[in-house]
This record gives sequence, C-alpha cells and structure tokens, in this order.
Amino acid sequence: MTLLSWRLAFLLATAAVPLINGRVTVSTQPAQTMNGIGASGAWWPNNLGQYPESVRSHVADLLFSQNHLGLSSYRYNLGGGGVWVGTPSRATETFFVSPGVYNWSADAGGVYFLRKAAQFRVPQLTLFVNSAPPAFTTNNRSCAGGIVDALIPDYAKYIADVVTHFKDEGVIFTHISPMNEPDSSFGTNDTPCGQEGMMVTPSQRPAVINALRSALDNAKLHTVQIISDETSSAQQLLSEMPTWLPAAAPSLGAFCHHQYSFPSDSLVEQIPAMVNELAPGKETWFSEICCFKAINSSLQHTDPAAPQTFGAGYQPGMVGALKLGNMLRQSFAVIGDVHFDWWTALSDGIGCDPVANVTCIMADNENGYNDGLMYYDNRFASNGNFAVYLTKRFHLVRHFTHFVRIGAKRLPVDDLPNNVQGLASKDSKGGSLILMNMSPNTIPVDLSGVTSLGMFHSAVQTTASADWETIRKAVDAVPGLSITTVLFQ
Ligand SMILES: *[C@@H]1O[C@H](CO)[C@@H](O)[C@H](O)[C@H]1NC(C)=O
Ligand SMILES: *[C@@H]1O[C@H](CO)[C@@H](O)[C@H](O)[C@H]1NC(C)=O
Ligand SMILES: *[C@@H]1O[C@H](CO)[C@@H](O)[C@H](O)[C@H]1NC(C)=O
Ligand SMILES: *[C@@H]1O[C@H](CO)[C@@H](O)[C@H](O)[C@H]1NC(C)=O
Repeated sequence: MTLLSWRLAFLLATAAVPLINGRVTVSTQPAQTMNGIGASGAWWPNNLGQYPESVRSHVADLLFSQNHLGLSSYRYNLGGGGVWVGTPSRATETFFVSPGVYNWSADAGGVYFLRKAAQFRVPQLTLFVNSAPPAFTTNNRSCAGGIVDALIPDYAKYIADVVTHFKDEGVIFTHISPMNEPDSSFGTNDTPCGQEGMMVTPSQRPAVINALRSALDNAKLHTVQIISDETSSAQQLLSEMPTWLPAAAPSLGAFCHHQYSFPSDSLVEQIPAMVNELAPGKETWFSEICCFKAINSSLQHTDPAAPQTFGAGYQPGMVGALKLGNMLRQSFAVIGDVHFDWWTALSDGIGCDPVANVTCIMADNENGYNDGLMYYDNRFASNGNFAVYLTKRFHLVRHFTHFVRIGAKRLPVDDLPNNVQGLASKDSKGGSLILMNMSPNTIPVDLSGVTSLGMFHSAVQTTASADWETIRKAVDAVPGLSITTVLFQ
C-alpha cells in the first residue's frame, strides 16, 4: 500500500476528519522548548573595531536591539593571538600574556561588540575558542597544532579567569565552547593558515570539558554551561561521538553540532538518537553554519530547497535567505535542536566592489560567500566606505529571533502544501506559525484548521520587495519566495 492510499483508507475509516487538501494542522503536543537564536562575532569585529563610533553603535543596534534583529544569543570569539594565521583580519588578539597575567586591552573590537550585546541584555552570551593561545598548543602557534595534554588544566583555568573578569564588569557569559571544530587544526606548519584552529582529538575532549567544568566550579561559575564539541560535519560527529561523549556528559550543558557537509534529513535524524543513547537528556544545539551553494549549479539561483554544499556564492536576496530557512527547519523540526547559531553576523565576503558598482551589492555573484547576515567593504581603510549592507537573510533571521522565543514550545506542523515549510511555536506571549514558500509562485494556504496556536492576530512578511511588513488580514496565500509569520493570541 502506498502512503497516500494508507492515509485515504485511514481517513475513510475514521470519517471524522474531513479530507481537505492543503489544510494546515498544528499539533497540540509540544516538541522541544526553544532556547535561543544567535550569530557569531568572528572575525568582523577585528575590522569593525576600526570603524567610526557612529557606525559601530549603529551595527550593535541592528544586531541586538528589539527594534531590529534582536538576537537572543551572541557568540564572542576568545582569540588565540593569531600566531601563524596569514589572514590579518582573522588573527584575533589574545588576553593571555603568561599564566595568570592578562592584557585586558587586547581585542578591543571584539570586546566592544561583546559589551554592546550585554548592554542590550542579549540573554545568551557564548564564549567560543577556535584555538588556545600558543602557550597551550603543541606547535606554539594559534593554528596547525593541537592542545598539549599536560596543559589542559591551565587552559581551563585561563578560560575561567576570562569569564570571571567579564563577570566582574557585568558581562555575564552563559555558555562556553572551549574547542570550536576540534576535528581540524586548520593548517600545516609549512604555510600560514587561513584562520585559527586547534586539533583536540576525540580522546582528549573529555579531559578538556571536565577540566573546564572543574575550573568554572572553582571560580564559583556554577551556572555557566559548557557546550561542545562543534565538530564540522554530521558524518564525522556521528563516528566520533561514542569515543568522547559518555565521559564528558556529566560536565556538558548541551551537545553542539555544525553541518558543513549539508547532510540529508534522514542522516541528521541519527544525531538526536545517538545523543539520547550516549548522553541521555542532553539538549542539542546547531551552533554554526554558513557558505552554502547548490550542488546542482542550475538550481543555485532559483531553488532554495535544493541540496547544498560548501562553497562560494553570494546571494543577498530571498533565495539565499530561504536556504538558511531550510536549515532552520531541519534543525528544529528534524533534529529537534533547541538552539541555532548562524556563523557570522557580518562578513566582508561580498565578492564585488560596491564602490565601483553600487548595484552589485544586491545581485548574486559567484565570488562572495553566503556567510553574513550583513556585509561590509573590506577596502574601508583605503576607500573610506564604512557602509553596512543588510541582506534578506538578516530579515529572515529576524522572524526567528522575534517569534521563536527562548522558552517557547515548538508545535509540529503538518499537512503543508508542497513547497511550503512551516514551523510553529507558542509561549505566554502568543503563538506563531512561520511559513516559508520555497517556490517562485504564490501558494494558497488554508489555516482554518490551525486552532492550537490561539486566535489570528496579524502577520509579518518578508518578500523580495518588502521587509518585515505587517499584515492585518487573515493569511490565505503566501507569495513566491517569501517568509510569513502568522501571529496568534
Ligand atoms: C595589550 O594589547 C594592546 C592591544 O593589542 C597592545 O597595544 C599592548 O601593547 C598590549 N600590552 C601588553 C603588555 O602586551
Ligand atoms: C614551545 O615553547 C616551549 C616554551 O618556550 C618550548 O619548551 C617548546 O620546545 C616549544 N615547542 C615547539 C614545538 O616549538
Ligand atoms: C540539475 O537541475 C536541472 C534543472 O532542474 C536538471 O535539468 C538537471 O538534470 C540537474 N542535474 C543533475 C545532475 O541532477
Ligand atoms: C554592476 O553589477 C551588476 C550586478 O552584478 C551587473 O549586472 C552589472 O553588469 C555591473 N556593472 C558594471 C559596470 O560592471
């Protein structure tokens, strides 16, 4: 029996449920409790730190204010000093001078935006590390090496000292990732690296996580949670998890994954199953992704739901935004993640010169990257162009930061029309149903069966021609390539 005839037989048998094509349903049975939507502060603060104060504070406002993006989470990159990193803008300064001696004047750009996030009361602040400072690595560099076993407790103490320092000035880190992408050292000792990175083998990972838990507890930082291990691809993560996760689980706040192999829904379904087996009860976070392009290049500019891979391709419009929307769907509805972080809030990977050609900023190109929510011109020092450019990705993420709130319960959505994706959540402020139309055509939607979210209130919509537009009348169709959040009270 095919699935369809099964369902028909079921419907005919029960007869209580009328068969209405495309009548969307939202379950009354909650799935996970949502816990934050964020983006990273790497490596753009190294550049933006040199911008005029008016621009820097405007950017902070765009990222953190409830009038704009209103991120509920922000990832601060604790720099490793950038030793042997060949890309100057990715060589983040370190506070570490020698054991117990710190230079708190270092990383002024990063600290500026961290303090802004705290001033705007962003509820979750994560401190993440790509590489420990050279004093703790096997090659005395900030990439191309690994963590030295004997120095793991000292490394943990250093992180706790940094967290304490910021706590004393009112910047409260809630989460720490002590090894971002520990599966790679990000280079060799022959040529300078493209970024910081530090190999931490699977068998070393419990030592790092448990030492950090002890160091945080010794510093009375009991509420600060450790999130790990942020392995780059789902396949590698699944193969290595059994080695390290059980021994680290008692010290772990949440399990974090990246997804740079852009795996299928059926593959990522294994993640929650394996976490449940190896670390029962731990929540999962999707803590970094960017840089997608369609595997089939003829679908790159038209189909946001087509399978993606890692690579160049700058897409500031709705297709580039909805590709991220598709990942948010996979994260929340398939994996059951409670938290999602986009890679970098701002990027210089525009792939064209917006001073030479003012229109190129809003056009797709093959040279830039889908790695920012906003972009800036890395020629700023010579051409004085301090403009920042918003993409449709910025507006799409705004739907999630505002309407998938910390503490809201996700409610599974069913019976969506083809090419429309839906995510629903509900808290004491109301219910929301995010609808993303992945096709270029308007698609009718019947929301008359959606009762579990409350009474229709209004909707907010982003399309190719409108950003965050309020709609007061009932939604009965969604425009091609759009995101619409229907709000209920
Ligand atoms: C501290 O860092 C600042 C900013 O990089 C630098 O100018 C200064 O020389 C550093 N001080 C020490 C003692 O390393
Ligand atoms: C790293 O520095 C330490 C301390 O100066 C030194 O003992 C060690 O030999 C160095 N390691 C390498 C690989 O250069
Ligand atoms: C790529 O997409 C185009 C357009 O849908 C299709 O005709 C072609 O067969 C696809 N190529 C591959 C290798 O799947
Ligand atoms: C400017 O950029 C647009 C969009 O990429 C492109 O179509 C146009 O040819 C460019 N103009 C020049 C003069 O290069």
